[in-house]
Amino acid sequence: MALNKPLSHFIDIDLVHKTVEEEFQLQDAKVLGEGMSGAVFLVKNPVGKTDFAALKVFRGKRESDSSSSSNSDHSQERAEKLFRTEVNVMRQCQHPNLMPMLNSVRMADSLCILMPYMSEGSLNRIIHRLTTHQAIGYFFQIADALNYLHKKKIIHGDIKPNNVLINSVNQAVLSDFGLSKCVPNQSVKLFIDYGTKGFRAPETFEDERVCPFKVDIYALGVTFWAMILKKKPGPSVNYLHHVNRASLIPCLKQVFESLLNKDPSKRISVSLGSDESKKESIKIKKERGQPS
Ligand SMILES: Nc1ncnc2c1ncn2[C@@H]1O[C@H](COP(=O)(O)OP(=O)(O)OP(=O)(O)O)[C@@H](O)[C@H]1O
Ligand SMILES: [Mg+2]
Repeated sequence: MALNKPLSHFIDIDLVHKTVEEEFQLQDAKVLGEGMSGAVFLVKNPVGKTDFAALKVFRGKRESDSSSSSNSDHSQERAEKLFRTEVNVMRQCQHPNLMPMLNSVRMADSLCILMPYMSEGSLNRIIHRLTTHQAIGYFFQIADALNYLHKKKIIHGDIKPNNVLINSVNQAVLSDFGLSKCVPNQSVKLFIDYGTKGFRAPETFEDERVCPFKVDIYALGVTFWAMILKKKPGPSVNYLHHVNRASLIPCLKQVFESLLNKDPSKRISVSLGSDESKKESIKIKKERGQPS
């Protein structure tokens, strides 16, 4: 089978002339999740050491589509763009808390990314039963992954619990780079009018250019807020109001105030390698009576 060839052979070329259904027997495959790109299936792993892998299928126009309507052309273009963006980011990154790519394949009817299967599913699935201790642990892992991306001048663009997956050794893995952007420098400003409701920073509604790094930080803050407060984020929720009413250790309140500050210039940056955030992490651990 074509997929037994070396990985490098597959990078972004027309290679598998079968349909994705034929190649991966998708009719019997479990759907792990669905979203704006298409669907993610649990498949037999054709390339790796593990038995299973997750296959993200970007649906554009199918070969069987006889019409060449502008709608299907448009959806094909969109699928191609999401696929290329995601492949481009995954190729550049190697971090234990970022989703790696096993392979990227162009098939007769679709574009696919093969990834390791994250057996515990998305963070959203377990968010309601996380202890504060677990939530803080995952938060630091996601922040570390985001720090890595930001240092490489990559914006994630859609941080939320659905885009954080938990692997079999209980690590949080940030995934879904379809809305990511590689930017030329750290001081770039962009128009951002996309993202998931409730996770979008307030300045993105102002119709002005904004710092995209700070937009990611706000989404990280909302994700952490949902993990700690066990409430559902939404566009009309006043996050800091809930933080102030909750009985949280003072240090956690400070973390929320700096992640979710409405003024992006007062919002912190993630740089867990920096002395400032190391001190912050030690302070949280001390307040919780843990060794630093
Ligand atoms: N590697 C994986 N292992 C297990 N489940 C996965 C994996 N990748 C994705 N999923 C599941 O599929 C869902 C959708 O995946 P993903 O976020 O990559 O697609 P999307 O189409 O961009 O989604 P959305 O538009 O909702 O952001 C995830 O929330 C998760 O539940
Ligand atoms: Mg997603």
